[in-house]
Amino acid sequence: MTTTATATVVNPFLDPRRFEERAPECLLVIFGANGDLTKRKLLPALYSLARERRLSTGFAVIGISRTPLSDEAFRDKMRESVEQFSGDGQLDREIWEGFSQGLFYEAGNFDDPGFYQRLAARCAAVAETRHTAGNVLFYLSTQPSYYGEIAQQLGAAGLAHGTEAFWRRIIIEKPFGRDLASARALNAELHQVFAEEQIYRIDHYLGKETVQNILALRFANGIFEPLWNRRYVRQVQITAAESIGVEGRGGYYEESGALRDMIQNHLLQVMATVALEPPARFDAASTRDERAKVLRSIRPLSHDEVPAHAVPGQYGPARLGGSDLPGYRQESGVNPASQANTYAAATFFIDNWRWAGVPFYLRTGKRLPKRVTEIAVEFAPAPHLLFADHGPAADPNLLLLRIQPEEGISLKFQSKAPVAGMQLRGVSMDFNYGASFGVRLPEAYVTLLLDAIQGDATLYTRQDMVEASWVAVEPILEVWGNTKFAFPNYAAGSWGPAEADEMLGRHGHRWRQP
Ligand code: BG6
Repeated sequence: MTTTATATVVNPFLDPRRFEERAPECLLVIFGANGDLTKRKLLPALYSLARERRLSTGFAVIGISRTPLSDEAFRDKMRESVEQFSGDGQLDREIWEGFSQGLFYEAGNFDDPGFYQRLAARCAAVAETRHTAGNVLFYLSTQPSYYGEIAQQLGAAGLAHGTEAFWRRIIIEKPFGRDLASARALNAELHQVFAEEQIYRIDHYLGKETVQNILALRFANGIFEPLWNRRYVRQVQITAAESIGVEGRGGYYEESGALRDMIQNHLLQVMATVALEPPARFDAASTRDERAKVLRSIRPLSHDEVPAHAVPGQYGPARLGGSDLPGYRQESGVNPASQANTYAAATFFIDNWRWAGVPFYLRTGKRLPKRVTEIAVEFAPAPHLLFADHGPAADPNLLLLRIQPEEGISLKFQSKAPVAGMQLRGVSMDFNYGASFGVRLPEAYVTLLLDAIQGDATLYTRQDMVEASWVAVEPILEVWGNTKFAFPNYAAGSWGPAEADEMLGRHGHRWRQP
């Protein structure tokens, strides 16, 4: 008689010991600690690192903003944030106790030199009691107009320079400038104080697991790369749709708009990841070089070409699912005659040997029908349709990279339907992260904060990349800035303005409806 041993099923991805290496000691100083980003993203990400035991025991945070607050009050606020915004909302009491003892707060005006003297003393004191080894990572998440000032003041207070014994780094939140000239000016100001290798320009899309997986898909498999070029790819669509409106950020959107908020940074970085050449090595310099090359190869648009290559939109009010949704112009902080774009679509061409002639369509918008971020790579049809008489024309083969919320990859192809005769149907081969790995994907900020603490800038942008993407969008910004649009031009809950459909129609293409 044979017996079968019951196998214990262990999910290796759930084992906390999978992280054997802890990060180096670090004091994180967050400017803008009272803001939304700290509350929604940074503290939950740090707590999650603490829970996974990835932070050093010598880790501490000093939160900074103008509002006076005690350390205790700051810890209470951060506890609420973590409970509200951490993945499962479950706080591990013991971990939180240990972690929160390392949270401190300092109020001050960003332009007051006296404040930076106090900050220097506080950093030294915390380094001593929390054993952070003198390493400091500054995180600038204030209004961007303060970035230059804060960097200068940190320099003047002697806080910016590392030594052989300890390091100093600075993370700059987006937006990095509001056009090419201001991005260059900010860079020059930062460089007066910090060396390039100390500067980490964050673009949180690069930290998304699914965006990183594009590199694994392309370069860890032999089957896709031979097809990944102009011979076989007809078009690429990159969509970042959000169902929410501007959510109290009307003032910011008035200044920025969707093109600056999403396309100049996130979507162009995603496009660069899809289009880059195989890096020589998987390190910061090699991968950033390849991303930069793609961005520099984007065909520049003349002002006359802009209307055919870029479409702005702004949502109007709508009644959806029994409730009234306000239009953008009715949101708080918004000019009732606003010309700001809450939707932007653009066609880019990458003028290099791999991609010449292949359109990359990028679109993003607020108040679209659903939240979905995806990349759709459409392949060339079969050269000769053997089954042309056996049903409607076959849908094209599509490789869908789903960035969020249902993270995964699908390959769409044609199959014979199980009926008499040769009838074709589109079918899908699906990989789903949740089903395959059984874990929640780490938030981008978890990955990126850890990388910065470890000194790995691979997933951060470099000045040449930032500049090249401003160069790509600047003609659009200039033309849109001088045009009066008949806004609103799409209803809340719809897929955007008709002109965006026409933009693709001119190339014989249609937007996918995810
Ligand atoms: C931010 C934009 O950078 O990205 C927001 O400022 C946008 O307007 C957000 O909502 C989208 O990020 P995610 O990770 O939710 O897709």
